[in-house]
Amino acid sequence: MPSSPLPSPVVDRFTGWWTGRTGGRVLSAASWLVSPLTSPVTPDDYLALLDPLLSARHPAGRVVAVRAEGPAAATLTIRPGRGWAGHRAGQYLPVGVEIDGVRHWRTYSITARPGDPALTITVKADPRGRVSPHLVHRTPPGTVLRLGPAQGEFVLPETPPERLLFVTAGSGITPVAGILRTLARGHRPPGDVVLLHSAPDPEQCLFRAELSELAARSPWLRFRLTYTRADGRLTPERIAALCPDWRRREAWVCGPAGLLEAAERQWAAAGVIVRLRTERFRLTPVQDMPTAGRVRFDRSGVETDAPASGPLLVAGERAGVTLPYGCRMGICHSCLVPLLDGHVRDLRTGELRGEPGELIQTCVNGAAGPLVLDV
Ligand code: FES
Repeated sequence: MPSSPLPSPVVDRFTGWWTGRTGGRVLSAASWLVSPLTSPVTPDDYLALLDPLLSARHPAGRVVAVRAEGPAAATLTIRPGRGWAGHRAGQYLPVGVEIDGVRHWRTYSITARPGDPALTITVKADPRGRVSPHLVHRTPPGTVLRLGPAQGEFVLPETPPERLLFVTAGSGITPVAGILRTLARGHRPPGDVVLLHSAPDPEQCLFRAELSELAARSPWLRFRLTYTRADGRLTPERIAALCPDWRRREAWVCGPAGLLEAAERQWAAAGVIVRLRTERFRLTPVQDMPTAGRVRFDRSGVETDAPASGPLLVAGERAGVTLPYGCRMGICHSCLVPLLDGHVRDLRTGELRGEPGELIQTCVNGAAGPLVLDV
């Protein structure tokens, strides 16, 4: 479990000041002045040894609270350190978690408002996964997590439109929870907001009490909750029935691939696709690809057979090649490797590509026949 080398109360008092605005400026100026004396190790490296939250180069945050959200989910409150650059409502956060000495990166929607002193993420434990159960069940307060920069375009415009529609299912509610919290505390009252959310059942519905309470005291918000087990899925017909003026609203849709694809067809057929924003949570591998291929990792001198429906990143790792990676889900672009020859297929869309020299995201592309990578 990663933790600070100093006792937590001492560190908290120390970093509480240094990671603030004034302390951060003093620290930055001091680091700049002494850096020629400490090269090649930077002052930032020494500060990170003292407390990871003092590093500006490698942002980190300390978990200060963990609150259960039903039996299989939890909200982690994270106090970010000096390197944190802020976020916009609706963005997601790359989180680096150390498990048995290996750092794993995953991304989670930020549910805190921009400018809040602490970040919050709500994680649902996937029983087949490694990182999410660790975060939900085995991450006590005091744990230090690495943080990447906030990312994503599933955000509110600077000036929110008058009529908004959010359609979410399952964990897709998390970025929208951050947006609604931001709207609720904005400088001016929001316009007319409709939230259609679908959860499997009441027990698995994240933020149910909070959203119901917010809707009860906010005349600008209409909240319609449906349960898949009792009512079935949120279909285009149901969306239209629950929100008859959906075509005239700026829309944000987040949830499983089936919901997003149905929404894209629905909005496109109505000629209003420009009003739709979607957020995909998971890589949805395209099955039954017609071709696999033999992959040569040129500079590593390794060749292996790669399945057509699996990422090149995994094929390379299984063959013992050290490949760069970050999120492993097509978001961070840490896994880019130049293609020397052959073709790859995007596992999310099925799109084929293969210009020599093209940079390939190995975590979301599979082999489409024999190919050579410059790594
Ligand atoms: S590892 Fe993040 S995009 Fe591939």
